[in-house]
Amino acid sequence: MNEKMFLFIAILSFSLTSAIVQTGPVADSSYVAAVYEHNLVLNPDPRVPLSRTEALQHMQKNLDIYEEQAARAAQQGAQILVFPEDGLQGFNFTRLSISSYLETIPDPQQESWNPCTEPDKHNNTEVLQRLSCMARNNNLYLVANMPDLQPCPLRTDPSSSCPPDGRWQFNTNVVFSSDGLLVARYHKQNLFFEESFDTPPQPEIITFDTPFAGRFGLLICFDIVFHEPTITLVEKGVRQLVYPTAWLNQLPLLDSVQFQRAFSLAANVTLLAANIRHGLMNMRGSGIYTPFSATYHHANKGDPEEGRLLAARVPVLDPLWVNQSVATEEGVVRDDSTSSTATDSEACQQESCFNSPPPEIASSVPPSSDTFISSMIYDPYTFVLLNETEGEVKVCNGTFCCYLQYQRSPQSGSKELYALGAFAGTHTVFGRFALQVCAVVRCAGSDVTSCGQRVEEAETKMDFLLEGKFGTKYVYPSVLASKHVLEQPEHLETAANGRVSMKHSNMTAGLVTASLYGRMYHLDSE
Ligand SMILES: *[C@@H]1O[C@H](CO)[C@@H](O)[C@H](O)[C@H]1NC(C)=O
Ligand SMILES: *[C@@H]1O[C@H](CO)[C@@H](O)[C@H](O)[C@H]1NC(C)=O
Ligand SMILES: *[C@@H]1O[C@H](CO)[C@@H](O)[C@H](O)[C@H]1NC(C)=O
Ligand SMILES: *[C@@H]1O[C@H](CO)[C@@H](O)[C@H](O)[C@H]1NC(C)=O
Ligand SMILES: *[C@@H]1O[C@H](CO)[C@@H](O)[C@H](O)[C@H]1NC(C)=O
Ligand SMILES: *[C@@H]1O[C@H](CO)[C@@H](O)[C@H](O)[C@H]1NC(C)=O
Ligand SMILES: *[C@@H]1O[C@H](CO)[C@@H](O)[C@H](O)[C@H]1NC(C)=O
Repeated sequence: MNEKMFLFIAILSFSLTSAIVQTGPVADSSYVAAVYEHNLVLNPDPRVPLSRTEALQHMQKNLDIYEEQAARAAQQGAQILVFPEDGLQGFNFTRLSISSYLETIPDPQQESWNPCTEPDKHNNTEVLQRLSCMARNNNLYLVANMPDLQPCPLRTDPSSSCPPDGRWQFNTNVVFSSDGLLVARYHKQNLFFEESFDTPPQPEIITFDTPFAGRFGLLICFDIVFHEPTITLVEKGVRQLVYPTAWLNQLPLLDSVQFQRAFSLAANVTLLAANIRHGLMNMRGSGIYTPFSATYHHANKGDPEEGRLLAARVPVLDPLWVNQSVATEEGVVRDDSTSSTATDSEACQQESCFNSPPPEIASSVPPSSDTFISSMIYDPYTFVLLNETEGEVKVCNGTFCCYLQYQRSPQSGSKELYALGAFAGTHTVFGRFALQVCAVVRCAGSDVTSCGQRVEEAETKMDFLLEGKFGTKYVYPSVLASKHVLEQPEHLETAANGRVSMKHSNMTAGLVTASLYGRMYHLDSE
């Protein structure tokens, strides 16, 4: 499926305390971006160390596929092509068994090197050379992910962050310009149970500049959930992000394309997301997202296991020089309507874009007492069922409340069970991060204990208004329909006091999830 969406009324952005009416892209220039979802050739025994020759033989198989795709992307006019995380070597290595896959990637900020034209400058760089020539021969910027080895000085000082074996091993993005020059190197900050890799001693904020679209920033997979480097990049004004990933889908809230779309919308940025295609590990879903459009692919059960090249012409997003940090300190929204900081004058200017700020409907509705707790992606959500054909409900987890007005489409499946859930707390399984989430979900079965469980399909279409009052300005909105179809929320707005509302109607397919996923970055370390 390759779908474009241009219907868009108002958007939500970190930078704002009130929404601006958006009529469409205003950029006067554009470029063609491509991402490749890669069905990789795996090493069947990743925990067994190989010789360098064997490791290279393995990676060349994946590089052969990259080469074909780079040529196809060039034919489609791509100026930048992104390959996924782990796409050359695969996963499940030990610190030792990945050794023969590693190359020492020089720091492009320290030296200028074109591996294609200067192959003898550094030994043991066959992969870098091949990628560089691929960029050069196809005349496009190329982003790939590969493992990097950086020797570090062993110290007797136990506080030294150099690992005891005297080497860093990093999960790394490399970027080559269209003549093959190595222009950027980024080491992944937020590892996801990758025993072969180290976390860099400092978060790396890495960007590169292109002649066709200006500046891009780099992140990898799980990084998208955290403040570093992702939010720092965005708040430095970087509006175009390159995102190799090997994302394990977690329905109903954290499906690949669902979060990619939500992130691009909320941050008002372009996201070039290339995922691995691996059915058994449940990795799939890639896309090219701008604040105005989404070109994406998400395979369904039973689809052939194969790669997929996506290409789209997208507008150049220039840096927005709004001073985002003035709006709120570290993104924390305090509900203090009497405060008058620099915030307010800015808020008022933006408020004037709206003739009349919408009334706060939700506050007068009493929370339902008919609630139950059910687990959604390992977190205990407080849920209330949507029992009627239409109605309104409110559910709270402590002082954090979610409100929903809904109307089921009368002709669509009425037997499906739906619930509104609220969660305020810290997610602690497979990563630790603080959340405030409002979500309408289709329950997987007919029993309330199935609410929050993984579900991919639904028949019930619903018009709704979902609203919550968040203690953060970082709220990621999504509407996911049956079989991983993304819908562009019809209307989104956010107010200075943290209230976010999302309105949607006339769905094209049944509703799987509608969510406002709030990240409380400021509480992550507590
Ligand atoms: C989002 O980006 C577009 C294009 O750069 C810009 O025109 C618009 O003002 C931005 N919207 C917000 C809410 O910052
Ligand atoms: C990697 O390890 C996980 C967990 O042990 C396993 O489920 C998965 O199949 C393995 N994948 C590969 C490609 O070896
Ligand atoms: C590469 O390795 C060869 C053989 O070990 C050595 O002679 C040469 O100096 C090395 N070149 C570089 C650039 O390190
Ligand atoms: C944003 O802040 C910087 C310093 O923090 C200042 O130099 C710049 O003028 C500000 N820009 C705007 C548009 O207010
Ligand atoms: C919804 O219906 C169930 C089953 O009849 C009932 O137990 C529950 O209290 C109802 N919930 C609400 C919010 O009306
Ligand atoms: C949210 O609900 C969970 C589960 O009932 C509960 O343990 C937690 O204390 C609640 N959070 C707040 C902020 O009340
Ligand atoms: C939804 O569909 C109805 C009936 O076709 C139409 O009247 C309404 O304008 C549509 N709403 C939106 C927001 O497109």
